[in-house]
Amino acid sequence: MEKLIKEGRDFLKSNRFELLAKNIQSDQSRGVQQPPLEKPVKEGEILIDLPDPKSVQLKERDIVAIIENRESRRLFDESPLSLEQLSFLLWATQGVKSIMGNRYATKRTVPSAGARHPYETYLWVKRVDGLKMGLYRYVALQHKLALIHEGDYTIDMTQAAMGQKFVGECACTFVWAVVPYRGEWRYHIGSHKPMLLDAGHACQNLYLACQSLGLGTCAIAAYFQEPLDNLFHLDGEEEFSVYLSPVGVLKKVNK
Ligand SMILES: Cc1cc2nc3c(=O)[nH]c(=O)nc-3n(C[C@H](O)[C@H](O)[C@H](O)COP(=O)(O)O)c2cc1C
Repeated sequence: MEKLIKEGRDFLKSNRFELLAKNIQSDQSRGVQQPPLEKPVKEGEILIDLPDPKSVQLKERDIVAIIENRESRRLFDESPLSLEQLSFLLWATQGVKSIMGNRYATKRTVPSAGARHPYETYLWVKRVDGLKMGLYRYVALQHKLALIHEGDYTIDMTQAAMGQKFVGECACTFVWAVVPYRGEWRYHIGSHKPMLLDAGHACQNLYLACQSLGLGTCAIAAYFQEPLDNLFHLDGEEEFSVYLSPVGVLKKVNK
């Protein structure tokens, strides 16, 4: 079998846990201090309050209908999202419900292997009521947004997503970036596969939350690594993007 294919398949297997059990000590088992639960807020960083996520008006509450009607949507109109809707989507995808022990772990609206929650959520905001156009980071522990840069990133986001236009032109694009050491600290090379699985939970909750709001989204894994990381000032080693999903108000299509 071709070597690269074999490497890819091995990544999907659980053998790394066996290797870990036999040969390798993780930093946690060696007593190294745990990394922070989320990216610390920098001094001078502008934080923006978000409304109570549960104050939003849902269009659909029937879980059967929500699951059944979920699909990938790529056609959005020019309407903005409300800040309540964005707040709900952020809460649904990474919202913190409780902090355990001495800031040992968070419990969130999505599961995560070992409750490591290795993801940061970044946003390209084009049309959200009450927010300036620009790039933001979700500060999940405070349920706030940190402004990275104001500006129109339509072209940069489209190019970073390999020309997929709806990524630049939607109301708001979610970008999930992994901080791998949060998982590696406990699971060493056993951490990478579970970390990737965790991204799926966040995105599926985004699909379902959008469906309940009458909004649309579409998971995206086809993107250029460096341009996307550079946009959000991610160093590409200790933190890098793995998944994105543009959100918008559905365009009415005449049938
Ligand atoms: C991991 C993943 C990556 C995807 N990447 C893209 C993408 O880059 N561009 C795109 O248009 N759709 C992408 N999709 C959406 C799929 O094409 C879509 O889920 C599939 O066609 C099934 O359609 P449905 O979601 O409406 O059921 C992706 C979906 C997943 C789960």
